[in-house]
Amino acid sequence: MGSEGRRGPLKIRRALTADAGIVAHIHVESWNVAYRGIMPDEVIARTDLAYRTVFWQERIADGDWPVFLMEEHGKPVAFCQMIPTRDGDDDPKRVGHITSLHVLPHVRGRGHGHALMDHVLAEFRRRGFEAVTLWVLQENWNARRFYEKYGFALDGGTRTYPKTGVPEVRYRIRLSVSP
Ligand SMILES: CC(C)(COP(=O)(O)OP(=O)(O)OC[C@H]1O[C@@H](n2cnc3c(N)ncnc32)[C@H](O)[C@@H]1OP(=O)(O)O)[C@@H](O)C(=O)NCCC(=O)NCCS
Repeated sequence: MGSEGRRGPLKIRRALTADAGIVAHIHVESWNVAYRGIMPDEVIARTDLAYRTVFWQERIADGDWPVFLMEEHGKPVAFCQMIPTRDGDDDPKRVGHITSLHVLPHVRGRGHGHALMDHVLAEFRRRGFEAVTLWVLQENWNARRFYEKYGFALDGGTRTYPKTGVPEVRYRIRLSVSP
């Protein structure tokens, strides 16, 4: 996909295994800013570039469910992973799930997150999904405001982030049927 963002040409493509380090870099940079003070410091320190590179190598290797990488002027700036839901109270054939959406801190607020979300929801729609959910840390108010502005709403789901006890809330959006 090619589109004009608010600041220059944006391209969204599927990440390849060779992009695992780039995706990991965006993820680590994003956590360092957005999750500081919400997630324990030792968890942020542990989820470093080496850890995340292996993590994303494994996930990108899944050929069915894409990790999308957004580039601005050819430089990677954001990524998003889509999968079917893994939550026991939803049907994975009808409900899609976004595991991660991260924009590099210095380019936030320029419409990149919105454009990447548009792309991912269009892909879910194309694959016949009826709704999409995502988990967000309860205290991550910036992301929560972004999702709410986009059109997601809390659906009552709560859980704690694995191994940390940090509370998360679930958001959901219904997908309109494509024309
Ligand atoms: C949350 C995130 C993905 C949003 O991406 P972004 O590129 O910064 O957001 P956009 O510029 O596309 O914002 C789209 C709209 O949401 C609004 N918005 C974005 N962040 C907002 C905030 N903190 N408060 C209020 N509105 C916000 C923008 O004003 C914009 O509105 P507009 O279209 O009317 O101008 C990005 O900021 C990010 O990576 N955050 C850190 C990582 C994170 O928390 N990810 C979510 C993990 S679940």
